[in-house]
Amino acid sequence: MNAVTVRAPAKINLHLGVGGPRDDGFHPLMTVYQAIGLYDDITVRTADSWSLALEPADYVDPADVPLGDDNLVTRAGQLLADLHGREAHAEVLIRKDIPVAGGLAGGSADAAAALVALDRLWDLQTSDEDMFRLAAQLGSDVPFALLGGNAFGTGRGEVVESVRGGDVARWWVVVTAREGLSTPSVYRRFDELHPDASARPAAPHKLVAFLADPVEAIADLLHNDLQEPALDLRPELRDVLTAGEEAGALHGLLSGSGPTCLFLCSSADHAREVAAALDGVGDVVLTANGPVAGAHVVEYA
Ligand code: C5P
Repeated sequence: MNAVTVRAPAKINLHLGVGGPRDDGFHPLMTVYQAIGLYDDITVRTADSWSLALEPADYVDPADVPLGDDNLVTRAGQLLADLHGREAHAEVLIRKDIPVAGGLAGGSADAAAALVALDRLWDLQTSDEDMFRLAAQLGSDVPFALLGGNAFGTGRGEVVESVRGGDVARWWVVVTAREGLSTPSVYRRFDELHPDASARPAAPHKLVAFLADPVEAIADLLHNDLQEPALDLRPELRDVLTAGEEAGALHGLLSGSGPTCLFLCSSADHAREVAAALDGVGDVVLTANGPVAGAHVVEYA
């Protein structure tokens, strides 16, 4: 075997409760993650040095995905190689379908996929404990990209635990914006708007209790504390949310720190109808279902 392809999903937050900043600057979170069927694939091949290349979807601007040493895939490769005391040599291709800087954790998906792919290519047999530890070092959303499904996230989002019993297919319309939003700037605006935010963010008890219920039961329980600060920075996103609800979506909300907007629909057909009605409202209009698996091998060659 000299090549492995690993697929990792985008994430959305069905609930994102944010608390006041900790001493390290990160914000305590209480979140319910869902992995949705929008994916990046990472292919790694045996090589004598490290190289990284990109194969973007037609709606992804390659200029938005710098391939230097700061790329999370390169950092993932270096961390894994260091853990095992070996050289980080591989030819890596990122096939990117997850919109960039959109609040869908696409970079985190790439990092998680790279960890799994390189672990297999280099035959390292890294323990789950080490994989999740490295993932948390790479970013708050990376452990969830390994886990997938529906999960509780606490800490700064990196402490994840599968939510059992909620595995009912949900259909989403995903509307991206051409210009991304920087996550730190949205958290900063949250701090400005909520200088007295409690250290304990809002918990999603009701949502979790109803997670497997008919879709109408969860529509009004979707919640995102970063929506207000993101809309404050980008007021035009309100029009997108309104357009989705007018098009018949059960509920619209911002994905993570935005600017991607999500619309919960009642079925695949309903999602296609809402997506058609939203054509031209955002940059790209996609449909996806969740929950789906975390980073997993799709091909050995
Ligand atoms: O962990 P990650 O690298 O994805 O975080 C990116 C940035 O988002 C952090 O530098 C921080 O500004 C902000 N962040 C935060 N609280 C979190 C997660 C992220 O303030 N729980």
